[in-house]
This record gives sequence, structure tokens and C-alpha cells, in this order.
Amino acid sequence: RKFNVAVVGATGAVGEELFRVLAEYDFPINNLVPLASSRSAGSTIEFKNKEYTVKELTETCFEENDVEIAFFSAGGSVSEKFAKFAVEAGAVVIDNTSHFRMDPNVPLVVPEVNPEDIVNWRETGIIANPNCSTIQMVLSLKPLDDLYGIKRVDVSTYQAVSGAGKTGMEELVKQMQDFFAFKLDETEIKAFAHQIALNVIPQIDVAQPNGFTKEEMKMVLETQKIMHKELQVAATCVRVPVLRSHSESITVTFEDGVEVDVDAARDALAAFDDVEVIDDLANNAYPMPIVSTDTDITYVGRIRRDVYAPNVLHYFNVADQVRVGAATNAVRIGLKWIEMENDI
Ligand code: A2P
Repeated sequence: RKFNVAVVGATGAVGEELFRVLAEYDFPINNLVPLASSRSAGSTIEFKNKEYTVKELTETCFEENDVEIAFFSAGGSVSEKFAKFAVEAGAVVIDNTSHFRMDPNVPLVVPEVNPEDIVNWRETGIIANPNCSTIQMVLSLKPLDDLYGIKRVDVSTYQAVSGAGKTGMEELVKQMQDFFAFKLDETEIKAFAHQIALNVIPQIDVAQPNGFTKEEMKMVLETQKIMHKELQVAATCVRVPVLRSHSESITVTFEDGVEVDVDAARDALAAFDDVEVIDDLANNAYPMPIVSTDTDITYVGRIRRDVYAPNVLHYFNVADQVRVGAATNAVRIGLKWIEMENDI
């Protein structure tokens, strides 16, 4: 059967990607309802060679359009205010913002890792999509945890500007143009705390009392919730001048006594759904943003055992932030939800 599907934030970076991914996955859509603010109501989007008019997000729009599945990607405050109207209209909300993620009654799902949690959607009508950095990290942690049991994770991220939406992407491009026009000193700084072109910024989101940033603490708390485990996680989240793929340098400490077999770890990663290994350092082969961009794969490479501790493994992990970190994960949640609901 087919569903009436709404996309809230239809004109945003993730919203636009959602339409592409929904088409590619042949999502069973009856009626498609693109929603945004009054600013872009009346504009059009294209889906499967057909034009759709963007409608204004209102309290009644879900009921009026008989929406059954609503993807939300318009920021936390929009989800906070409007998700309930979609739920009241009988829809399941798949929310891409951080607003509901740590609510104990809302499942937080990466379908390859914890699909079983989706059944709890009935508690609130909402399923949360994790933070982009968390999604690609747990996709590589899960097979390693199944293999050896993870005790601790230390991660440094290299995060693309797409995490800050279209504004972030446009700001990087503009600053690069300003650089080549010899006017980088006059460039506008809006999306980030500092100039991002030719720079790296070791701050994503706001400071927390413990010295970490909010983005870093999202990686801690969301990873524990998805993995159902009190893992120790320490993150350093860094914004880099890359358009739309996040990279992560990850150090995993397994349980005491584990002697990591690197080939076994590599095989476990390669066998996991939607993960691919590119790991041939001698031939300059490893994952990079230019490899992962526009794909639905989380790439892992530079896999190596620690020189000192036999229970410690290091690797590098890259994925498209807009797809794997947002739109594709949301669509995969939707497909899994449909599969499970049909079984009930
Ligand atoms: P609009 O184009 O009408 O502003 P991005 O993450 O790329 O910045 O995109 C944000 C998305 O969220 C856009 O589609 C934007 O629509 C939408 N949006 C932002 N604020 C609201 C709001 N108050 N109501 C509905 N949609 C909103």
C-alpha cells in the first residue's frame, strides 16, 4: 500500500535531498506534501519528473492532507511546535532534529543498528533521527561491538559545512570566492563563529558546563542510547571547509583482555550493512569526503591496532552528511516502519 507523505523543510538542504532519496528508494508514496514556511509557500519542487507546490506549514495542514508519514527537517523549534499536530492527525513523525532525541519515550534509530527500537514509536508517534556524526559512527561501532565488546570510544570529527544547512554551504562557497577576489578580510561571517574558508573551527554548537560542546555531548548520549550500553565516549567536534561529508578519526578501546585481530575487525566492518572498507594505505586508498559524497555508504579505512595496547583499534570513517547523516537514514527508518507496521 502507498502512503501520504509530508516533508517539513522541503526547501532546505536535507529536505531537497529527501526528495531525491525517496525517489531512488521508490518509497511507496500516494500523495506527496512539501511543506515550508510562508516565505517559500507557492514555490515548486520536483519529484519523479513532476512538479509539486510547496505549501505553508500550519497546525491543520497534516489533517487537511491526510498525512500518514511526516519527515521533519526544519530545525528543532519547528519540530517542537508542529510535530504534535502531525501526530494528532494520525501520522508517524520521523524527526531529523535534536528536539526529541533524548526523550526516553522516543526511539532513536539507525535502522542497521537498532531497528528493534522502532516498535516503541506508538508511545509518542515520533521516531528520532540521530545526529549526523553519531549515525556514521555507530554504523562502524556496531559490528566491532558485536565482535569484541567496546568499552570506550575516543573520536575527533572533521565535519562539513552542510551540517549548518544551506546557509553553511553557501557561506563556505562565498568565502572561497571572496578569497580569490582578494577580499576575504571583508567576508561575511554568519553561519559559524569564525571564518570557515581556509580554516578549521574546534567548536560545533554551544558550550556546555563540562567543557565539551553540545554537539560533542550529543555524540556521547545518543551513542549510548542507540547502542543500549553505558559506553564511555569522548568527542572533539571540528568544523572543516568541506561541503557535505563528515570524517571521523575513531579510537576504540575493547574490553580488557581482548587482543584485536585487525583482519577480523576489517571483515566484520565489511560485512555490515551499508558499510564499506577502503583500506590499502600502501596504494593511497582510504575513505575521503570526495569518495563518500552523494553515496549512501559509510566508508571505513586506516584500520590499525594500537602500537601499545592490544585491545585498542584506530580507524577513519567518512560518510555523506546530508544523505547518511540525515535524509537516507530518515528514509530507511520510514521503510523499516512500513515493514514492521505491515507485520503488526
Ligand atoms: P523556508 O525556505 O521557507 O525558510 P536548511 O536546514 O537548509 O537551512 O533549511 C531549513 C528548512 O526549514 C527550509 O525548508 C525552511 O523553509 C524550513 N523552515 C525554517 N523555519 C521554518 C518555519 N518556521 N516553518 C516552516 N518551515 C521552516
